[in-house]
Amino acid sequence: MKTKIVTIGKADSQERIEEKLADAGDIIRQGGLVAFPTETVYGLGGDALNPESSRKIYAAKGRPSDNPLIIHIADMAYLNRIVREIPDQARKLADAFWPGPLTMIFRKAEIVPHQTTGGLDTVAVRMPSHPLARLFIQKAGGYVAAPSANLSGKPSPTLAKYVVQDMDGRIDMIIDAEGVEIGLESTIVDVTSDVPVILRPGYITQQMLSRVVGEIDMDVTIYDDSSTQAPKAPGMKYRHYAPKGELVVVVGQPQKVVRYINEQAAMHETEGKRTGIIGTQEMLAEYHAFSIKNAGSRNDANTVARQLYTFLREFDDENVSYIYAESFAETFADKGFGQAVMNRLLKAAGYKVVHV
Ligand code: TXA
Ligand code: MG
Repeated sequence: MKTKIVTIGKADSQERIEEKLADAGDIIRQGGLVAFPTETVYGLGGDALNPESSRKIYAAKGRPSDNPLIIHIADMAYLNRIVREIPDQARKLADAFWPGPLTMIFRKAEIVPHQTTGGLDTVAVRMPSHPLARLFIQKAGGYVAAPSANLSGKPSPTLAKYVVQDMDGRIDMIIDAEGVEIGLESTIVDVTSDVPVILRPGYITQQMLSRVVGEIDMDVTIYDDSSTQAPKAPGMKYRHYAPKGELVVVVGQPQKVVRYINEQAAMHETEGKRTGIIGTQEMLAEYHAFSIKNAGSRNDANTVARQLYTFLREFDDENVSYIYAESFAETFADKGFGQAVMNRLLKAAGYKVVHV
């Protein structure tokens, strides 16, 4: 299949943008697949109400078909048709955080095919805030099923070039545009129970959610990797985002962390192996290794969130065999967005942590 790559930038008039997105929308209506930017990561879109489109999405990603897709909408008026009911809590959360990086799990209506929900009777719904995503969803008929636009097992793409790397030849169109700013996937909240439950942490933090709905739980498997329960979001059970090199998170007093990582890097160098480091701005000058990535200030989770997946892909391209990352758990004192960063980092590391 020939993949059409369509760039949308500042030089495009509103009319031209509408034209390009109308083409993209037509592809979705005809059962094809289009990758598009959202404020979190790039999505791989298909018609959410067409079982054949969902089948194609799983095939393009090489994704297990028991891992349900998120339906993206652009307007609150479209929610009714795909869910059995809208609980009060969900209405409040939608008022507060939609459009934005929040996905909610509802009981699904008949019209939503089981192919889209991985066989579940619930459905995940998100209203993204990225203006091009919203316009595209409207042109596509209102219901776009979209997982992240990476091959299964790769980091979610935050740049169009990574979508091209993974999806060229596998889908009909890729929309290349700016505005993928958050860099980690949306927060997922199950609103089918009396007390809402966070199934995946993200930019919308537990604190932000509880300010709106009061009590809120967190799926135990997010913070306890020794839990024997299955995660409530089926996708969370897969080892996502795994770089080729062996990734270890190093926890401890900053100077000790630097010393440990430098020792390891020197040792690997004598073995003829490359080492990569993800370090905070404050410590960066003290590291010595083949590839050193700047995770930004230790007080700011946004920088490392935006770049984490890019770093992991760059390490692969640089043929790095060993990767060491500082831990961001203690440095992000508020435990807000830092929790989502650590969740993804620990998953990428297969939960390998060294305390120094
Ligand atoms: O930010 C995002 O959410 C991005 C952009 C493209 O919107 N999408 C995304 O989709 O991350 P994906 O497919 O990579 O992750 C969806 C997650 C999976 O872990 C999946 O198991 C979970 O949502 N999920 C979907 N439907 C669910 C349901 N009915 N019940 C529980 N978990 C569900
Ligand atoms: Mg994904």
